[in-house]
Amino acid sequence: MSNILRRGRLQSTPDEDIMKFTSSMKSDKWIFDADIMVDFAHTIMLKEQGIIDEHDCSSILKGLIRIREEGIEQLDHSYEDIHISLESKLIDIVGEEVGGRMHSGRSRNDEVATCIRLTLREEMIALMEELNLLRRTLCSVAADNIETLMPGFTHLQHAQPTTLAHHLVAHMDALGRDVERLKDAYSRVNLSPLGAAAFASTGFNINRERTMKLLGFDGLVENSMDAVSSRDFLIECTAMLANIMINLSKMAEELVIWSTAEFAFIELDDRYASTSSIMPQKKNPDTAELLRGKAGVVAGSLMALITTCKALPLSYNRDLQEATPNMWNALETTRSSVRMMDGMMRTMKINREIMALKSVIGFTTATELADTIVRATGIPFRTAHQIVGILSRREGDINLQQIDSVADKILGIKLSSKGLTEELVGEALDPICNIKKRNVIGGPAFEEMEKAIIRRKDNIKHTEEEIRVLKNKSESSLNMLMELVKQYIAKA
Ligand code: ARG
Repeated sequence: MSNILRRGRLQSTPDEDIMKFTSSMKSDKWIFDADIMVDFAHTIMLKEQGIIDEHDCSSILKGLIRIREEGIEQLDHSYEDIHISLESKLIDIVGEEVGGRMHSGRSRNDEVATCIRLTLREEMIALMEELNLLRRTLCSVAADNIETLMPGFTHLQHAQPTTLAHHLVAHMDALGRDVERLKDAYSRVNLSPLGAAAFASTGFNINRERTMKLLGFDGLVENSMDAVSSRDFLIECTAMLANIMINLSKMAEELVIWSTAEFAFIELDDRYASTSSIMPQKKNPDTAELLRGKAGVVAGSLMALITTCKALPLSYNRDLQEATPNMWNALETTRSSVRMMDGMMRTMKINREIMALKSVIGFTTATELADTIVRATGIPFRTAHQIVGILSRREGDINLQQIDSVADKILGIKLSSKGLTEELVGEALDPICNIKKRNVIGGPAFEEMEKAIIRRKDNIKHTEEEIRVLKNKSESSLNMLMELVKQYIAKA
């Protein structure tokens, strides 16, 4: 048997069906680049520690560069994972006398955990950047619609007038928390398990801090059993992805209903729509519907991931191979969903007149009328609530006279005698006055929204800066590692 892994202990070869069942090659495409970086760092550390000599080091590095250039397709896909397939390719190139030394003091268990963390940290940075772009888009659509009236909803029933800006900032803030969570999780992802070997560390005189620094990690997953067996960082990140998708699905749902003839608040750009194969007139908001659906798929990935990890004994178990792809799938879906939402929001047409007209339908100003009555007359809010509730049962416009007649029945007094005027009633029933009055912090009043949007813009800028720092650190350590690789190759 020529299989470098199985030729010692094992005597029969798995058939194709077994290989398909056991191999992780398909999802290992995610960690091909990372695996080579990990190999670079480990090999250099082995040389620096005197575990391999300079010649072997540079030959291995050269071989790895060639594998990198040829790409994952050139690897033997009949191996059970990328790590062993890459090592066997290296041995093909530089011979076993040299290439067979690369895996000293290491196991695929610490290797795979390191590769996942390295790739995931870059993906998290990209996702945070995409989320910030979406937040920027929401900021600018909100800034253009500070005075765009719309009905606000509770129970999907018209509730009180608000503005589109107020509504969009609500979504923006939820996404802002998602970015904060990712930033926080990054500090637990960007730790190095490398050097834990199978689980018990190694008797070779390796230097874990050195590979940690070479790969741009901020620290170690110290305990070597914990390092190879824990996937809580995957659960944490996938839970965040699920939450992002839940947030996006709420927005997508609104885009779907807002596109109906019943709402007609918006029209999605044609590129995000589909049509019917039978009904020639149809314009369907498919991209938003799919996003809504994919939120369920990502929630499913989280469920698959946590149930795979449940009750696994220490330390490494092969089950973990089934855990990881759930996170990659969730990640890919979430990143594209963020981009789709950004595009839909950026290009949608907003029907401002219709939204404004609908902002008062369903007596949305009733709360303000009750509040006005309380402030003008001093009667308790609960009594005003009853009076306006009774008024809301009738059809047609509401005026002071009608208010007085209901109040007379309930209280035995006319509210006009207690300070309620036609002018105050008129203001209470005007949606713009409603919004202007709601100028507490976080409310929809125009000048409050303006300030709120400025605060959001500042926050996005600040977060973008923080993410740039993480990205620069990650990129510059990998660039430095590449430089070192070149230096070692040049020396030989
Ligand atoms: N493909 C494996 C995974 O994803 C790599 C580690 C394999 N380790 C082992 N002892 N078989 O977990």
